[in-house]
Amino acid sequence: MSERTQVAIIGAGPAGLVLSHLLHLQGIESVILESRSRDYVEKRIRAGMLEQRVVDLLISTGVGERLKREAMVHTGLNFQFEGERHRIPLEELTPGRNVTIYGQQEVVKDLIAARLAAGGVIRFEAAGQSVQGLDGLRPVVRYTESGELKELVADHIAGCDGFHGVCRGAVANSKVYEKVYPFAWLGILAQVAPSCEELIYARHERGFALHTMRTPKLTRLYLQCPVEDRVEQWSDDRIWSELSARLNIPGWSLKDGPIVDKGITEMRSFVHTPMQQGRLYLAGDSAHIVPPTGAKGMNLAIADSMVLAQALAEYYKSGSSEPLLRYAADCLPRVWRAQHFSWWWTTLFHRFEDADAQFQEQLQVSQLRYMLASRPALTSMAENYVGLDRVV
Ligand code: FAD
Ligand code: DHB
Repeated sequence: MSERTQVAIIGAGPAGLVLSHLLHLQGIESVILESRSRDYVEKRIRAGMLEQRVVDLLISTGVGERLKREAMVHTGLNFQFEGERHRIPLEELTPGRNVTIYGQQEVVKDLIAARLAAGGVIRFEAAGQSVQGLDGLRPVVRYTESGELKELVADHIAGCDGFHGVCRGAVANSKVYEKVYPFAWLGILAQVAPSCEELIYARHERGFALHTMRTPKLTRLYLQCPVEDRVEQWSDDRIWSELSARLNIPGWSLKDGPIVDKGITEMRSFVHTPMQQGRLYLAGDSAHIVPPTGAKGMNLAIADSMVLAQALAEYYKSGSSEPLLRYAADCLPRVWRAQHFSWWWTTLFHRFEDADAQFQEQLQVSQLRYMLASRPALTSMAENYVGLDRVV
C-alpha cells in the first residue's frame, strides 16, 4: 500500500529540512526521504557562513536557540594580497547587517531535532529512485528502504536532493548553464583556536587560501589545489606548510593543531532550468551550484525553500496555484545574483594557469586595490556578501 502526504520532500539537507519546518508552521504535512543515515547527515562537514536573513529566519521560526548561544557573529572580514591584510568593516558598510559563523551540520542537527520533536516524519536511509506522474494531481516518489521498493504519493514533490540527486533528471526540456573551474579546494577542520578573529581571504601567488572557523576551539581552513589532487597526497605537514606560506604576514603566523577532517571539493557554477516541472519543484543544490568562495550555496538553498514554502502555503490556504507556477521565476533572480558574486569572488582570489594568467593577475590586484580606495565599490561587495534582502 502506498503512503500519502501533502508534500513529499527528497533530501534532508538545509533545503529539505527548512522547507519541512516552514510547511509545518503553516499546518502543512510533509514526509522527508533521506538516503543517508541521521548520523551521517549530522556529521557531514560543509558550509559555515550564514547570511543575516537566514539567521533571522532560523531565530524567528523557533530553531535558533542554540545558534544564538553558540554562533559567532562577524562584523568584518579580511582581504589579503601583495603581503598585506586589510580589514573590511561589513557592518559599517551595510548598516546593521553582518554574517554569522555556524556550521551547516549544526543547522541540520537543530532542524532535525525540531522536526522530530514536532512529530515530523524523516525517513533516513530511504533513497528516492524516481519521481513520476508530475503533470497530474498525484505525483509519486518511488524509493527503497531496507531493501524494499516503496511508494510515497503526494500533492507536490520537492526535489531537495542536492547535486547528485534523482529529481533534476525528471525535468523535461532542460537547459543547463555551467562553468567548471580548473582547480579545487582542499578543506580541513583543525583542533586549534582560530588565529584571527575574522575570516581571511588570501590571494597569493601559490594560490588562494581561506582562514575561517567553527568555534573558539576549531579552525576551518581551505586552500586552492589542482583539481586532480587526492587527499592522500596532502599530509598534515604539507597542508600546514602550504597554508602558512599563503596566509602568514609579518608579525602574524597561523597556529596549527590536530587535523580532524580533510576533504577535496571541486568547483563549479551550475544552473538547471526550468527549476520545476508540473508538481515537482527543485530547491537548493539540485537546481544550482556555486563555487564555495562566496559562501552562498547553503544560503541560496534556504532562500529557495522560503519561496517554495510561501507558495505552497498560498496553495493550501486559497487554492491558488499562481505562486507555485511562478516559483522558478521568483527564485532565479537571487540565483543569478549569487552566481555572479560567487564567480567574481572566485575569479578575484584564485591563481589561474591559462594563457592569459598574467593579465588576470593584474586585473585581480587592480580590482582589490580599487575596492580599498572606493567606498561605493566596497559597499557593493559588502551588500552581496552579507546577502541582499530583495533581488529583482
Ligand atoms: P545538500 O546539503 O546536498 O542535501 C541534499 C540531501 O539529499 C543530502 O542529505 C543527500 O544525502 C540527500 N539525497 C541525495 N540523493 C538522494 C536520494 N536519491 N534520495 C534521498 N535523499 C537523497 N554554502 C554557504 O551558504 N556558505 C558556506 O560557507 C559554504 N561553504 C561551503 C564549503 C564547502 C567546502 C562546500 C563543499 C560547500 C559549501 N557551501 C557553502 C555550499 C553548501 O554546503 C550547499 O550549497 C548546501 O549543502 C546545499 O543544501 P541542499 O539542501 O540543497 O543540498
Ligand atoms: C566558509 C566557507 C566559505 O566558502 C566562505 O567563503 C566563508 C566561510 C566556512 O566554511 O566557514
